[in-house]
Amino acid sequence: MHEPNILESNVRSYSRSFPEKFNKAYGAKLYAANGKAYIDFLSGAGALNYGHNNPILKKSLLEYIKNDGVTHSLDMSTSAKDNFIKIFNDFILAPRNMKYRLQFTGPTGTNAVEAAIKTAMLATGRSRMFSFTNSFHGMTLGSLQLTANKYYRDGLKLSNSFNTFMPYDGYINNSIGYLEKLLQDPASGVDIPAGIIVETIQGEGGVNTASKEWLQALQQLCKKHGILFIIDDIQVGCGRTGTFFSFEDYKLDPDIIVLSKSLSGYGLPMAIVLLKEQHDIWEPGQHNGTFRGNNLAFITASQAINTYWKTSDFELETKNKSIFFFRAINEVIQTLNLQELISVKGRGMIAGLSFKFENLANEVSKEAFLRGLIIETCGPKNNVLKLLPPINTANTLLAQGCEILSESIKAVLMKNNVRKIA
Ligand SMILES: Cc1ncc(COP(=O)(O)O)c(C=O)c1O
Repeated sequence: MHEPNILESNVRSYSRSFPEKFNKAYGAKLYAANGKAYIDFLSGAGALNYGHNNPILKKSLLEYIKNDGVTHSLDMSTSAKDNFIKIFNDFILAPRNMKYRLQFTGPTGTNAVEAAIKTAMLATGRSRMFSFTNSFHGMTLGSLQLTANKYYRDGLKLSNSFNTFMPYDGYINNSIGYLEKLLQDPASGVDIPAGIIVETIQGEGGVNTASKEWLQALQQLCKKHGILFIIDDIQVGCGRTGTFFSFEDYKLDPDIIVLSKSLSGYGLPMAIVLLKEQHDIWEPGQHNGTFRGNNLAFITASQAINTYWKTSDFELETKNKSIFFFRAINEVIQTLNLQELISVKGRGMIAGLSFKFENLANEVSKEAFLRGLIIETCGPKNNVLKLLPPINTANTLLAQGCEILSESIKAVLMKNNVRKIA
């Protein structure tokens, strides 16, 4: 147990959930200063899809630094940036028939979301947005208005929000019908928004997945009313679902896509907004920021694309791994006969274990940590365990993690006397 330095603000959170001092990391493992190894099913909240200190990315980064490559350049052109734009277009956008301009924002996800909101407002001349129940889009004041959880929004004392929360897929019956009715009815009291922002899988909101049909209907609705359709792929993009974008199998054509987290592939901060050309309404420097050109991140991001996305091998590997992963998770639930207590959600390499009783997920997370597994909770009442290992974690390690998970669930259920376990 590591005691926190009291000079650090109360706002610290992961250091409370996982009270250890870490000093080394490799692949899907984190190592504490005392030598204890932890399997990492958190992956920097989705920022480490290719694992900690990925050796291929590290090599290119060290080479770049050794040769005095430019580290900081505002948004000036550099070889690192030009090369990233070319590689991103050649191996991510072009093969998928996607035509977008790249806007580099400040390096965190919320920066990209702020830019997307402004783009939608500037491009349509409208002043409002829709986001969804259980959504998470960031912590700065604009993005926070799109974020559903009250715990976070309590930090926001604005009398007027520009956002209206709409029901996500499955929140009510026929949520698209509800939206349609509100938008068509001039007396609904709901103005047509500039943009609708959606996560295909709500990572923080509880690993809720939207169906292909629902997302297609939402896109259709946006087109009909001239609303910009914005996909926030910050947490589940960059390969997490098995394809580079989380919606590739759904034949969607968003007006705007926001990416961050695993884009650099190395945990280095980087964010972009992908804009259709006709929505690129910006005047030079109108959305500014000192750190819009993290050249070190450009280097690792380019190398990640070169390594993993030039062919379909990695995609195929991830799809197979996902089958293995979900089989292992379902086995835990079935072996313990917990189908009534825990439901499994997610797709690709993001899985959620939703507990019927609220406090149990947190307890399992604590118990798992003691046994060497890092796993966080999410959902409206922290009632969902979120399994987010690096997507290239070896199957043996995934199985080991699921074994620890199983032991931890057993221990917590026994402690709480939830019911007798064989
Ligand atoms: C879907 C989504 N959007 C936006 C963000 C905000 O990103 P950041 O924390 O880098 O600002 C997150 C962070 O978890 C996220 O999951």
